[in-house]
Amino acid sequence: MAKLTAPKGTKDVLPSDSYRWQYVESVLKQICNDFNFKEIRTPTFESTEVFARGVGDTTDVVTKEMYTFLDKGGRSITLRPEGTAGVARSFVENGLYAGVLPLKLFYLISCFRYEKPQAGRLREFHQFGVEMLGTTTPNSDAEAIIFGAEIFKRLNIGNITLNLNNIGCKECRKAYNEKLKAFLEVKKDSLCETCQERLGKNPMRIFDCKSEVCQSLIKDAPTIFDCVCDDCRDHFNTVTDILDTVGITYKIDKGIVRGLDYYSKTVFEFVSDNIGAQGTVLGGGRYDGLIADLGGNDAPGIGFAMGIERLLLLAEGAMEVFEDTPDVFFIPIGDAAKKQVYQLVYSLRGQGISAEYDLNARSVKAQMKYADKIGAKYTVVIGDDEIAQGSYPVKNMSNGETVNVAPDEIITVVKA
Ligand code: HAM
Repeated sequence: MAKLTAPKGTKDVLPSDSYRWQYVESVLKQICNDFNFKEIRTPTFESTEVFARGVGDTTDVVTKEMYTFLDKGGRSITLRPEGTAGVARSFVENGLYAGVLPLKLFYLISCFRYEKPQAGRLREFHQFGVEMLGTTTPNSDAEAIIFGAEIFKRLNIGNITLNLNNIGCKECRKAYNEKLKAFLEVKKDSLCETCQERLGKNPMRIFDCKSEVCQSLIKDAPTIFDCVCDDCRDHFNTVTDILDTVGITYKIDKGIVRGLDYYSKTVFEFVSDNIGAQGTVLGGGRYDGLIADLGGNDAPGIGFAMGIERLLLLAEGAMEVFEDTPDVFFIPIGDAAKKQVYQLVYSLRGQGISAEYDLNARSVKAQMKYADKIGAKYTVVIGDDEIAQGSYPVKNMSNGETVNVAPDEIITVVKA
């Protein structure tokens, strides 16, 4: 029979790698705790409308990349391509706006985008994201950016550039879109078909186009950064003042528009040159109109998401993390010893010690080899003599030293 393989663009996380995921997740959760963010879990799939209305129906994500299907009840369902729209939907649906604000939330989720797979770009990938809902102040923009920077600091990852842009409020964008339209109107016929359509509906999305022709046509276009209103400019200046105060370095990149429609004012990306074309590891920004677009009140929001796969590519060699191995491995010789080992393993595990023994009926010699292979820190060989004397040889596998102790003292040796 033909071998089955995982779908294109998906990846198994094998035990030889999963400890790195667990390490990263534990560091992220610790930062959430330190910054007082609480976890939210929303469904893996939502009504398609959540993304069409939330992310924007002229974005690449919505028009080209969504896994959308009709369920057996004929409803249009989409596997989430990102986390923000679902969180915003939940915020509205559960009336969370009526509680204590701002709501500081985080999530660790799988996301789905039908993209061309390559290093750091998958069809199922994982995001860690944070969202702060119900806060308009520039302090919260700075808080999100400082959180992002803290991730790279704690994981010991250098060579990351933080790029910032200010894309203004709805009003600034309305005026800017007109300016951009006027600039591009004369070049309209040279734009690709999709961008000609974008020019009519949402000119800023032309910045997302991968065609070199469209990129060259838009190269000298006016930037939104230079067209924002005074309020938006002041807001942004306060964000950068706070970053300066805490010593976080950044660059202004007037070209960042982000690929999702919900953004306003501050947008930011943490980018690396070390992982090839998919260099944006973390991206986010303010989204003051999203909640209203999903039928809620006008609660503002700000957040970011980071791709775990991209982070792990970057962390290669930088993270000081080692796979956990068993604390102690027991090797019984004889039936009485076997029973003793069952009891000891059971009791030690119950006390939080990683205790292991052979499940595959190996010879004693093979068990020794096996214990070594799985990296057991201590081994204890138990035969009739050890049971009779009540003294068990606990061998330290890294230096070969052995101490003989009573069974209930094994824990003290292996815990040391
Ligand atoms: P995004 O820029 O579309 O933003 O995605 C955030 C991050 O997810 C990217 O920087 C990248 O690391 C990762 N990512 C995206 N697509 C893929 C893929 N196909 N394969 C691997 N990794 C990928 C958002 O999703 C927004 N929801 C972020 C946000 C939250 N803004 C405000 N709050």
